Amino acid sequence: MRTPYVAGNWKMNLDRRRAFELAEALRNRAGDLSSVDVAVAPPFVYLELVAQTLGKSGVRVGSQDVCDRAEGAFTGEVSAAMVRDVGARFAIVGHSERRHVYGEDDALTNAKLRAALEGDLDVILCVGELLEERDAGRTEAVVREQLQGGLDGVTSEQMARVTVAYEPVWAIGTGRTASPEQASEVHLYLRGLLEGLYEARVADGVRIQYGGSVKPGNAAELLSAPGVDGALVGGAALTADDFMGIVDAAR
Ligand code: G3P
Repeated sequence: MRTPYVAGNWKMNLDRRRAFELAEALRNRAGDLSSVDVAVAPPFVYLELVAQTLGKSGVRVGSQDVCDRAEGAFTGEVSAAMVRDVGARFAIVGHSERRHVYGEDDALTNAKLRAALEGDLDVILCVGELLEERDAGRTEAVVREQLQGGLDGVTSEQMARVTVAYEPVWAIGTGRTASPEQASEVHLYLRGLLEGLYEARVADGVRIQYGGSVKPGNAAELLSAPGVDGALVGGAALTADDFMGIVDAAR
């Protein structure tokens, strides 16, 4: 049995005060986290504040991105060691906004993922197809390439630190979610791919989150779909009420 994993991606939202208040509210309301893993990914500049505020609540903190290099003359970048140094413990890589707004490809995503693991961070690797790719019947081909490309060179041992998030791009921030059947179909396909890449024990342990307009009102249905092990939440992660509603659906 895989423990459900609900993570909130705050994207480029909130300011210092609101990040603090949200972290404080999550700390106060997290309660018993023995049956669900919960995490948030604030903007880089608020990582330390949020990590300190969440303290020992059990809510994990991670970054929304990470540099593919360890150190040096890479203006504007933030390394895995820096993320870890301020109290964060994981990084998201390959988010569709990194891929489609900033043009990041599978090779760069893979380099970031490996840099994160080498820097002692856990990773959430995002994959997902565009609407035109789904309409052209290319969903499986797209997520296969992203999964295999993203995990290139990642060992079985390292896979214990990797979570996959399936985020169909057409469902992100649009209010349009994949149906539980559509989500299941892709999650089970991804699970099969993992089984082709790693031994069963390792593949079975990897959690696959669904992301794309998850809200308190649809979370229970999506989270109970076969193959869905949790959620990666954007808009609904920005208020404690909504986010805890989703966490409660996963408990
Ligand atoms: O990473 C989470 C995300 O892309 C989903 O965003 O706003 O559709 O929940 P949203």
